[in-house]
Amino acid sequence: MSRVSEIMETMEYGPSVEDSTAVRDWLAQRESFGHFIGGAFTDGGASFETRDPATGEILARIAQGSEADVTAAVAAARAAQPGWAALSGTERARHLYALARHVQKRERFLSVLEVLDNGKPIREARDIDVPLVARHFYHHAGWAELRDSQFPGHAPLGVCGQIIPWNFPLLMLAWKIAPALAAGNTVVLKPAEYTSLTALAFAEICQEIGLPAGVVNIVTGDGATGAALVASDVDKIAFTGSTEVGRGIARALAGTGRRLTLELGGKSPFVVMEDADLDAAVEGVVDSIWFNQGQVCCAGSRILVAEAVAPRFEDLLHARMARLRVGAPLDKSTDLGAIVDPVQKDRILSICQAAVKAGAELVGGQPQEGCFIAPGYLRNIAPANPGMAQEIFGPIATLSTFRTADEAIELANATRYGLAGSVWSESATVATDLAARIKAGVIWINGANMFDAAAPFGGMRDSGHGREGGHAGMLDYLTGPAIAPPARTVPKPPAAGAPRIDRTAKLYIGGAQKRPDGGAMYAVPGGLAPQGSRKDIRNAVEAAAKAGKWAAMGGHARAQVLYFIAENFAARRNEFAARTSPAEVEAALARAFHYAAWADKFDGRTVQAKPGHLVTVIPEPLGIIGITCPNGQPLAGFLSLVLPAIAMGNAVVAIPAEGDPLPVMDLCQVFDTSDLPGGVVNVVTGAGAELSPHLAAHEEVAAFWHAGAAGDLAAIDQAAGGTVTPVWSIPPRDWTGLQAQGESFLHHATRQKTIWLPYGA
Ligand code: NAI
Repeated sequence: MSRVSEIMETMEYGPSVEDSTAVRDWLAQRESFGHFIGGAFTDGGASFETRDPATGEILARIAQGSEADVTAAVAAARAAQPGWAALSGTERARHLYALARHVQKRERFLSVLEVLDNGKPIREARDIDVPLVARHFYHHAGWAELRDSQFPGHAPLGVCGQIIPWNFPLLMLAWKIAPALAAGNTVVLKPAEYTSLTALAFAEICQEIGLPAGVVNIVTGDGATGAALVASDVDKIAFTGSTEVGRGIARALAGTGRRLTLELGGKSPFVVMEDADLDAAVEGVVDSIWFNQGQVCCAGSRILVAEAVAPRFEDLLHARMARLRVGAPLDKSTDLGAIVDPVQKDRILSICQAAVKAGAELVGGQPQEGCFIAPGYLRNIAPANPGMAQEIFGPIATLSTFRTADEAIELANATRYGLAGSVWSESATVATDLAARIKAGVIWINGANMFDAAAPFGGMRDSGHGREGGHAGMLDYLTGPAIAPPARTVPKPPAAGAPRIDRTAKLYIGGAQKRPDGGAMYAVPGGLAPQGSRKDIRNAVEAAAKAGKWAAMGGHARAQVLYFIAENFAARRNEFAARTSPAEVEAALARAFHYAAWADKFDGRTVQAKPGHLVTVIPEPLGIIGITCPNGQPLAGFLSLVLPAIAMGNAVVAIPAEGDPLPVMDLCQVFDTSDLPGGVVNVVTGAGAELSPHLAAHEEVAAFWHAGAAGDLAAIDQAAGGTVTPVWSIPPRDWTGLQAQGESFLHHATRQKTIWLPYGA
């Protein structure tokens, strides 16, 4: 007679299929869907089929949005926006609470609809996607209530265009719509063409709860509809999807001054240290790369395992993988459902084939009939293998080994992406060290793919910029405090009686005066300034890249350097006043003291995500910031921008006021005598229009602040779009005034890193 444990081992799972009758009835009643514009569904027009990827069955017809549909939706959102923004926080919150409650009431319906349209397992839709959707609306109802007190002086952006992918259709909708509405914006959202149905069901919920017409508009369609939305009269585009499309959107928006946040692809590392709990780490892989068939932007798709434990880890992994069930998504015991579309299945398989051709060994990962692929991983894979660089976006990880923690970090960061990372170690020292050194927006310690509305999510480098969730996410849907126009915009001539020094300045690169590459000079008040070139910009960025220790010094040490700069600057205040004006020098000096004070105080926060999880959001320096300074008020303008950037630990390459750069070049002597490490501040004088696009296009430049000529913005945006670099276009202001300093500068000088640490379990 068999023992119970043996029976358990050999027992087959019987099917346990979730009932889909209610959803099928709902689909049968509608058959084809128009757009949701101004609170009502349109009649449609051109349309396409949407299918269940698990069976190929046609579910409904979806309208293909035209330019005219997008225009109508944007007009409806525009008309509704003032009324929506004028509601009290409590009234907006009530609507968001109602959306949350109605999503909760329909949890089962929405889960089943999502499964039919997308192919994900019902267990995931029911236990992860839909509860997180409700959580997002609840959390942001709170932000609606608290907006005015927590974001004083801020205002909504207006109308937001939002474009989402097909991997988490309803969840991505919630991530986009909830913060936008909480802040007082109205939206036009375009779901992905494969998965529009839950967005349309959500539109019905908007009607049901009495959301004012036009606050949420949904236009369905493919990439052409998305492109029409990007080209329309919206105030912001929020996009989640592929890096390639994100790059195109950044370029399409060049010069418009419209806000943009991008949540793009990833190739996130999953690092298993020698002392990790290997069983837990294997479960982590399941949650990481086999969750949602691996169609997850933050999937831990590159498994890096310590050589000493690699054989045992792989044995465990292999055994676990063999027990995963691939099959009918509506079956409650299915682990991996269908790939979203045959096109994506082919794409995954072709990357795997290329990886195998280049020498990797594929374990598992075989295609199955229909839209299914078994879980798998690529081993013996060289760093240059295409499977290592490309986002596979399917249930196939890569597995490689390392010997030391330094090597692990090097491998983890050997990618253009920077979305997430997962680290496994029983040592708090080792785990937090890795968490700090991996270049990514979100790090999970001893965990994977944990999400919450309070925990900001987003990336860096080719994974995009901007945050979704929590306080940081709200800021991406608000304008900063209002700025009064500048009192004067023309460069001020030197004060009467200024010494007529005729001097020839040099560039300031790597802490030293440097002759410009071409040797050309141009006349400026007080003498000659170097005509910097593309090569000088490159040299300056290289010098800035070597200043990494500045970030590691910590706020306290940086504050001391900034105070020292202030002191040395104060000692020469009369000389600088004669070259600019006493008022400007005093304002510039005040900036130095202000940011010295802030250097060790711009703190992160610990957020209440899930119980039993310590979730910390830390503002990190971005790296190298490229800055163009305003013309007029050359000293105050320069310091108002450079000081907050370096106070937060960044290095800068600045292009000072083209018409009057010499006061800044003199200031560089102050830097030299103030213990500022070489390379932290680099200054290249010359023609802003010519130099700034080179600076913005440089791969090493992490962010660009443009306060120079408005006409240069389009070229800067174009250049930055290629490297997915965020550009902050800073409106003109009186650079000696208080509105030229403050926390919004520090916010732009940092990026939030969210670190998850489960505890007490
Ligand atoms: P995609 O980036 O083309 O699609 C995402 C969304 O953008 C969809 O709503 C689509 O209609 C829209 N879109 C497409 N072209 C557009 C354009 N020119 N202007 C405005 N909107 C546009 O992604 P796709 O082709 O569905 O998937 C291809 C690969 O992209 C995947 O295999 C994966 O590697 C990556 N991807 C990454 C996602 C992420 O969450 N980071 C999500 C989806 C795809």
